[in-house]
Amino acid sequence: METKVMASFFSSALNEKIKSFIGRYETKRSSILPVLHAVQDENDWISQEAVQALESEHGLSVVDVNEVLSFYTMYRKNPPKPYRLEVCGSISCWLHGADKTIAAAKAHIAEGEKNGNPVPFECHKVECLGVCGYAPVALVNKDRHLNVTPELAIKLISEYSKKELPAAAKKCASDLAARSAHQ
Ligand code: FES
Repeated sequence: METKVMASFFSSALNEKIKSFIGRYETKRSSILPVLHAVQDENDWISQEAVQALESEHGLSVVDVNEVLSFYTMYRKNPPKPYRLEVCGSISCWLHGADKTIAAAKAHIAEGEKNGNPVPFECHKVECLGVCGYAPVALVNKDRHLNVTPELAIKLISEYSKKELPAAAKKCASDLAARSAHQ
């Protein structure tokens, strides 16, 4: 008799990573932080479908995972834009004009939306990024940028917008398209 193999919600590479993180800790609950990072790295965000699959496929409790998700702001609970400009708003960066950088970036993004020429970006203020001597500091996804003036923020947005989208962003877009096709 033919045995049907249920398709996993996650890729096989991600399943291996999840198993290896779970294996490193005494309790499954302790592995939730790195597991969620791995899921976010591949999918660009953490959907409730992913949370359910962590329980059904890997035995991580939905309640425990959602508790962690709601506590940490670094996990994206909604589908993001492909690029995130995250500007440090802590003391050194604030003193060196982080607020102006954030305002310029947000205005540039809003202008693109208004003119029908949107950029694949969102901008957020984040806590200290650990290189306070180069304030204001910002990340574009995982790339770190130093001395990010308003002009540099706009330049970064323009340059990244011309690049091919990151793999996680493409996966996020195709998951959302598949989801809306089934609704
Ligand atoms: S205060 Fe901005 S990197 Fe530390």
